[in-house]
Amino acid sequence: MANERRRGAHITGWGRYAPTRVLTNDDLSRMVDTSEEWIRQRTGILERRVASSGETTASMSLRAAQAALDVAELDPRKVELIIVATVTPDHAFPATACLVQDALGARSAGAFDLSAGCSGFVYGLSLAAGLIEVGQYDNAVVIGAETLSRITDWTDRNTCVLFGDGAGALVLQANGTRGGVLASVLRADGSGGDLLKLPAGGSVQPATTETVNQRQHYIHMDGREVFRFASRVLPEATRQVVELVGRKVEDIVLFVPHQANGRIIQSAVRALKIPPDRVFTNLARYGNTSSASVPMALAEAIDEGRVRKGDLIVCVAFGAGLTWAATAIEWSVPLPVPKSPRWRIFWRWMLYRLARIQSWWRRLWRQADAWIQRLGEGEDH
Ligand code: UT7
Repeated sequence: MANERRRGAHITGWGRYAPTRVLTNDDLSRMVDTSEEWIRQRTGILERRVASSGETTASMSLRAAQAALDVAELDPRKVELIIVATVTPDHAFPATACLVQDALGARSAGAFDLSAGCSGFVYGLSLAAGLIEVGQYDNAVVIGAETLSRITDWTDRNTCVLFGDGAGALVLQANGTRGGVLASVLRADGSGGDLLKLPAGGSVQPATTETVNQRQHYIHMDGREVFRFASRVLPEATRQVVELVGRKVEDIVLFVPHQANGRIIQSAVRALKIPPDRVFTNLARYGNTSSASVPMALAEAIDEGRVRKGDLIVCVAFGAGLTWAATAIEWSVPLPVPKSPRWRIFWRWMLYRLARIQSWWRRLWRQADAWIQRLGEGEDH
């Protein structure tokens, strides 16, 4: 919602991380009954990244968050809120955001995960901006990260050609000046939940040998219906958010849609009459990375210098839930951002090492404390 703003939530840092392993369409055509041409023509995807066995949603989130904090020159110990938008958390609990908080050494931060399908990052951005605007926090790190390769059925050609892994992060900071996240539109239609889901592993169908054998722990999707839904809501949400901030679609300088399918993006862009040079896509290289897609694309666009102070950016996403969301941002940081001096890079590297030692120490202390207490209780008896 647009509101009378006391202060703005400005994007001061951005970062992204993609695993190094590349899976091309040709690779996929050797795995399932598909072809390079089919995938390219129907989706616009040429390749995607796949996490290595040692990589997880938390580890990729951490890399993206560290990069974003570097740009913002924000000390991780001063971070007040960490949100990780994901449908592939490291565990059902604890939250991936808590793992990131620990690894960053963000000892003053609250942390939680947010599940809103591929719209999760835009939801998170809106939430964090709102909390900053009302004065509850001065800063926040919002991350979108996915290890979709772990829930992709690599025998299902309907889904496995689409998804990839990665992470993107933004740092938001309070500032009395105009700009930053201006307004957002967040919507849901749970009646479409069956169109895109992970059937088992929750309270409805806890994991059993049967659910595993029936491949119920993988993404199930009615692609055609999701396509129809997406083609309708992308233009709709974009128009709504632009109207909320009193601007016109023609004012959008950078349009960053969810990177799901090139045809969905083209259809939205045609409907909105946005010139192609104002639309950012990196779908060809990363595929659909769900919650990570908007922050990865936005961070890349910013790194390419695609925005200037005062420019209107619109990010729009859709996904499982069904959910959809759009946010309007007025860019407020001069680009390019000067590189950090070497001593500062070293200082931050030291802080992350220190965070690890402190985490290890807290675990050890917890055990020792419990042991001392048990010993004391034993003496009392
Ligand atoms: O973040 C949100 C996540 N989901 C999405 O964004 C998905 C949105 N939907 C889509 O992107 C598209 O619907 C797909 C890419 C999933 C499918 O493209 P489509 O043009 O809608 O294809 P279709 O489902 O209508 O299928 C057309 C044909 C079918 O064969 P028949 O029944 O016409 O003989 C499919 O079996 O293409 C076949 N097909 C494939 N053929 C080769 C489906 N997947 C493949 C494949 N390779 N990978």
